[in-house]
Amino acid sequence: MTFGCQMNLHDADFIRGALDAAGWRESALEEADAAVLLTCCVRQSAENRLYGRLASLKPLKEGSGLLIAVGGCMAQKEGVNLMRRAPHVDVVFGTHQYPDIAALLSRGTSGRVCATAMGGLSLSGQPRKRREDFRAWVTITSGCDNFCSYCIVPYVRGREESRTMEEVVEETGELVRQGVREVNLLGQNVNSFRRKEEGRSRFADLLRLLGRCCPEAWIRFVTSHPRDFDTDIMLAVTETANVCEYVHLPLQSGSDRVLGAMNRGYDRQGYLEKIRELRRIVPDVTLSTDLIVGFPGETEEDFEATLEMVELCRFDSAFTFVYNPREGTAAARRPDDVPRRVKGERLRRLAEATRVLTAASLSGEVGSERTVMVYGASRKDPARWSARTRGNKLVHFQRGDDDLTGRIARVRIVSAGSWSLHGELLEVI
Ligand code: SAM
Ligand code: SF4
Ligand code: F3S
Repeated sequence: MTFGCQMNLHDADFIRGALDAAGWRESALEEADAAVLLTCCVRQSAENRLYGRLASLKPLKEGSGLLIAVGGCMAQKEGVNLMRRAPHVDVVFGTHQYPDIAALLSRGTSGRVCATAMGGLSLSGQPRKRREDFRAWVTITSGCDNFCSYCIVPYVRGREESRTMEEVVEETGELVRQGVREVNLLGQNVNSFRRKEEGRSRFADLLRLLGRCCPEAWIRFVTSHPRDFDTDIMLAVTETANVCEYVHLPLQSGSDRVLGAMNRGYDRQGYLEKIRELRRIVPDVTLSTDLIVGFPGETEEDFEATLEMVELCRFDSAFTFVYNPREGTAAARRPDDVPRRVKGERLRRLAEATRVLTAASLSGEVGSERTVMVYGASRKDPARWSARTRGNKLVHFQRGDDDLTGRIARVRIVSAGSWSLHGELLEVI
């Protein structure tokens, strides 16, 4: 079971790979000998969900002796506290223990284990088992050095480390040879790829190299940091045919005062100039963002500056969050002084503003022809395919007899809903 972001989803591939290599097999929970949960702690709500899930596993533990292992970011942060709070958990393992998971589970059968040491994790050469044949994640940087004042990630994932260009190219090439048609490059800040090691970012070079070595696979990447997203990266996106025109560029706040207190390293003007340049260089780019309301000291004026930036930037979509103090971070030392009611109210206003922009961005697609990657049958309506454009917009279209999962298709967009598009199949490529 996986909670949290794409990092965790990808870590689950390593865990499945390591367990598979050790002879474990996946099964339904009711028949399982062990349950492995990968956790998130970016906000309190993620932690609460984990404790809820753990409570629901208790009867299985008491009935069949299910071994329960909890790993990932929250396990890294809480360690023995988690063991104390959930006495039916057998194994707690951190974000750097994935290769040892099989040994930890077997130690867990004879006594409780807590392993949260950090460092020395190498992703190359680790076995992994992917959930899908056509889509894969490739970590290019792990950890984070940015220390945004509200964020727990650097504390639970460790310092930023880049893999080598050769490792990334080799791994991507191997995936493509195995039939993968969409590769997602992963990092908390992909734009700083190899900067620490080589003194300058090589991310644009990496995109161009992957364009030459793996032209048959779509390349997506998350997450970009506005401070490090530069002209050369924009040029690489537009020049490299298989790199998708989608950029997730978290703004977090539209107020310079709040951005400073968040330690984000850019201001409104700088962000606006970047996205103007991005749209000039990559005209059909889709731009999404993350926004936080209720950061300590955020006034109504600060919040209105965020609303104003949302209008100015005209994001295609946005993830909106209520600030949540994370123990150990710099912001958590400041009073969490925006009342809950005000936070809720601001979130509603912001969500409404971004909803309107998303609807406008989607209706702008109606009448166009788009190339899409088909991800599988829609969960809501299995009679339709679920696919995404190069700009990451969700498109549904009617299923026929052929299995189009993992195929690239041309569709005509015929209508737009609040969160997705409806299309007609033109051809399968
Ligand atoms: N590295 C990415 C970045 O810089 O955007 C992802 C960081 S985090 C996994 C995803 C988002 O969670 C952040 O962009 C931020 O908006 C939000 N977030 C992080 N810490 C938060 C907190 N303490 N309270 C509310 N939202 C938070
Ligand atoms: Fe957190 Fe900032 Fe790093 Fe993103 S860049 S993971 S928000 S510290
Ligand atoms: Fe991701 Fe949550 Fe960890 S967002 S990096 S799983 S704290």
